[in-house]
Amino acid sequence: MKLASEHQAFWDAGHKNYPDQMRSDGFGGQLFSPKALDGIKAVLSADHSDRFARPSDRDWMSSIYPWTGDQRATKIGALAKTYRGLIIYKTPFDLALYPRLIWELQPRTILELGSCQGGSGLWFADNMSVLCERLGEVHSFDLYIELVHENAKKHPLLSFHQIDLSDVANFDEKLLAGLPHPWLVIDDAHVQIFSVFSYLNKFLVSGDYYVIEDNPVFANKEIIDGFQLIERAGYLIDTYYTDAFGTNVTCASNAWLRKS
Ligand SMILES: C[S@@+](CC[C@H](N)C(=O)[O-])C[C@H]1O[C@@H](n2cnc3c(N)ncnc32)[C@H](O)[C@@H]1O
Repeated sequence: MKLASEHQAFWDAGHKNYPDQMRSDGFGGQLFSPKALDGIKAVLSADHSDRFARPSDRDWMSSIYPWTGDQRATKIGALAKTYRGLIIYKTPFDLALYPRLIWELQPRTILELGSCQGGSGLWFADNMSVLCERLGEVHSFDLYIELVHENAKKHPLLSFHQIDLSDVANFDEKLLAGLPHPWLVIDDAHVQIFSVFSYLNKFLVSGDYYVIEDNPVFANKEIIDGFQLIERAGYLIDTYYTDAFGTNVTCASNAWLRKS
């Protein structure tokens, strides 16, 4: 699998070059501890596991909700992150998850709804530059586009678009129809999330990903009804990402979604 494509090479090189160290009393002993091995096995078996779940088969419990977890357990403000000097509103868990997905999926298009200062778009574009074998495009959408910093606008893979997401008719259909797949869509605008989903779903193909940040954790009627719509549209939750650090330890509870 892509996520662990070079893992075996490590063990092969260890056994070939440092066989003594690979025993339980060498440094291999630390790597082979039952806990470490469980983690490695989870990565190696990810392609064959039951990682994809129907929304209706999941509950909405979260081991820690990262945005509130920071207020209880770390210094307040520790999550007010910056990226290359710009604001980025991502939790440390999600900052660790997205690069894995970008590496695994190799998206040719990343669509971000909600640009803020452009820091997160810049981070996605930098990740794409480093992690994707074929470079693609990052398109970031926001109503208050004047807040986007010049430094973000300079990135060659990144474009910003002004749009009021409260009406999906404002999307540029021609632009969307021409964007290469696979797609990774991140909804971080929190505006009409299910009508935006229904609209963009028309452009997504099998294997594309759609991540909805923040709103799902409320699990109210609107969210439950919306996730029924998502299930009917053929999306499954990729629990490899939602549960990587504990059940739904992400800002996108049950909402790392892969189109079947
Ligand atoms: C949570 S912030 C985005 C944070 C950013 N993605 C990050 O990770 O740093 C939400 C964004 O949604 C934008 N927004 C609010 N209402 C909007 C609307 N009607 N249409 C488009 N964007 C909107 C806001 O301007 C804000 O930048």
